[in-house]
Amino acid sequence: MSTANQPRKILVTSALPYANGSIHLGHLVEYIQTDIWVRFQKMQGHTVHYVCADDTHGTPIMLRAEKEGVTPEALIEAVHQEHSADFKEFLVEFDNYYSTNSAENKTLSQDIYRKLKANGKIATKTIEQFFDPVKNMFLPDRFIKGECPKCHAKDQYGDSCEVCGATYNPTELINAYSAVSGAAPIRKETEHYFFKLSECESFLKDWTRSGTLQGEAANKMGEWFENGLNDWDISRDAPYFGFEIPDAPGKYFYVWLDAPIGYMASFKNLCDKQGLNFDEYWQKDSKTELYHFIGKDILYFHALFWPATLEFSGHRKPTQIFAHGFLTVNGEKMSKSRGTFITARSYLDHINNPEYLRYYYAAKLNSTMEDIDLNLEDFVARVNSDLVGKYINIASRTAGFINKRFDGKLKPSENNAIVAEIKAAATAVAEAYAEREYGKALREIMRLADVANGFVAEKAPWVMAKQAGQDAALQEVCSDALELFRLLTLYLKPVLPKLAAEVEQFLNISPLTWTSIGASLTANHTISAYEHLITRIDPKAVEAMTEANKENLAATPAPQAHSEQRHAAHQQNEVKAETLETDYITIDDFTKVDLRIAKIVDAEHVEGAEKLLKLTLDIGEEKPRQVFAGIKSAYDPETLKGRLTVMVANLAPRKMKFGMSEGMVLAASDERGGPYILSPDSGAQAGMRVK
Ligand code: MSP
Ligand code: ZN
Repeated sequence: MSTANQPRKILVTSALPYANGSIHLGHLVEYIQTDIWVRFQKMQGHTVHYVCADDTHGTPIMLRAEKEGVTPEALIEAVHQEHSADFKEFLVEFDNYYSTNSAENKTLSQDIYRKLKANGKIATKTIEQFFDPVKNMFLPDRFIKGECPKCHAKDQYGDSCEVCGATYNPTELINAYSAVSGAAPIRKETEHYFFKLSECESFLKDWTRSGTLQGEAANKMGEWFENGLNDWDISRDAPYFGFEIPDAPGKYFYVWLDAPIGYMASFKNLCDKQGLNFDEYWQKDSKTELYHFIGKDILYFHALFWPATLEFSGHRKPTQIFAHGFLTVNGEKMSKSRGTFITARSYLDHINNPEYLRYYYAAKLNSTMEDIDLNLEDFVARVNSDLVGKYINIASRTAGFINKRFDGKLKPSENNAIVAEIKAAATAVAEAYAEREYGKALREIMRLADVANGFVAEKAPWVMAKQAGQDAALQEVCSDALELFRLLTLYLKPVLPKLAAEVEQFLNISPLTWTSIGASLTANHTISAYEHLITRIDPKAVEAMTEANKENLAATPAPQAHSEQRHAAHQQNEVKAETLETDYITIDDFTKVDLRIAKIVDAEHVEGAEKLLKLTLDIGEEKPRQVFAGIKSAYDPETLKGRLTVMVANLAPRKMKFGMSEGMVLAASDERGGPYILSPDSGAQAGMRVK
């Protein structure tokens, strides 16, 4: 395992988040995982550049901007600000956070395309695609809806039925319509550009065997090879928010072509700012290292398209691809109705210490593609017991004596066996970090914290402090305890950089790096006054967070990640991440839901609620129902009065901050807009059952 003796040059990336949504706790698994690794490698003394960017192109972003009445450029600029602020607060420290909609990316994408073309890897083919005659645009499959050809469920997406699970081509939908304009799409021929992935098979097979992938990822590749590699459609017709393909008027690069090139572009931008040598990192025979951290859902793009793109455009390939699993919360996929679909911002608003989450994720992370679970109860217990009860405890029980009795001056012992034991663990801890076995690293560090606490408990400085003639011993014990605390802080620093900086200030030492293990706090070194470094998490804050996120929701959550991009991955044989798949229910499950036509007899604002309106609903029962619905952003309460809608009448009543909510009103929403509440056809009456 490499330690600080051989400086390496390392370029690290995290996947580029889409610019059409907020950063949530699922995303943060990846950015925190990467950031810890980068901080660790920097502490080792290596030269590390960590770059990322917003992924800004594609149809969903174009349509969302249109809907919001802004240019796509204005939309992605606003999202860039938001994402940057979120990452900064979670202490994710990119060396550059850029955008795929940049001059650098355009040049690089076009150059790479030209090289692929010169190498005979580009083909054109005329294909037939759905076209929206009202909107005058070709429609990605995700924007075509219609009746399922198998079970005849209405309003299904162009690729698969969410009711019966059938998969099909959009051409098989019955009464297809455009989700953009509602018009019946026509079929139209268009010429598309393809990257000949089918010709890259032997290269990719060799590459897979080169140790670049985790075991599970290599197995997945094996399956893909067995199914055969299809050529990759890299063009989209105008109108499209993206880069034009050279010498192909009206044709644009598909977002997934220029997105990974965005890694290079962000780095190019950094090179220009800092005078670094771009080619040294990207040329074919580069001696530098390149690591991509990604989620398992985008493996196909990074393990097939990307290395092939690099290889056949004359560039180096990634040293390794590190794929992680998906986040579940309390053992289930993140869910808006359970309040566990939590944005980065919402976490900060309620819990306000990002290092708790960093610590918990690190404790759960390993080097595999297994999903990781954020169990909220365990989160509170773990952070309180490890960080407050074990780690901080060492300083909080000893620093006061040094400050008060010895004027802040230390006098450590010459030879403390426990200090030696903790120093000796450095290699094991470093190895675990380097291998992304953070859980293992933290278990070892907490074991050492137990040893340190055992030392303090055995010496009992609070007893010594009361005995005459024990001054020298008291000073020595407390000084040694602070040395143990210094070492543990060093080990925790990749995970808890802010806390570590506060400890460095308190101990009055320069920033800890891995070589600081060899140093020690010395006699007569003066520390600063000890101030409370961390507080326990209040379980109520976590509860308030999930409650608040329940409010976010009008009604039934829209499925996550219904983006054109992810769908395309699916088409390319990619296996969708399990957490994104549909959970089927039986007809019996469905009939348990008492859906009723409701008349909105009253609607009003709720004092202090950001998102809610209070509705009074007549469903033909004696007493009207009171329901809080998260539709304030879309409706003026006055316009709702007298309208009919649909409600879930047998949803268990829920006590909310503002009163009881006795059911739920149905509304539609996704990244394209909403919420839109549902209305029955004319003739329906309050209280009718919906079946
Ligand atoms: N824009 C693409 C990536 C392009 S990289 C050249 C994309 N964006 S994303 O916003 O959907 O996801 C960004 C990263 O976050 C991906 O690696 C994805 O796997 C990860 N995660 C998104 N949701 C996640 C969870 N719920 N859990 C863990 N990681 C998740 O994909
Ligand atoms: Zn169906």
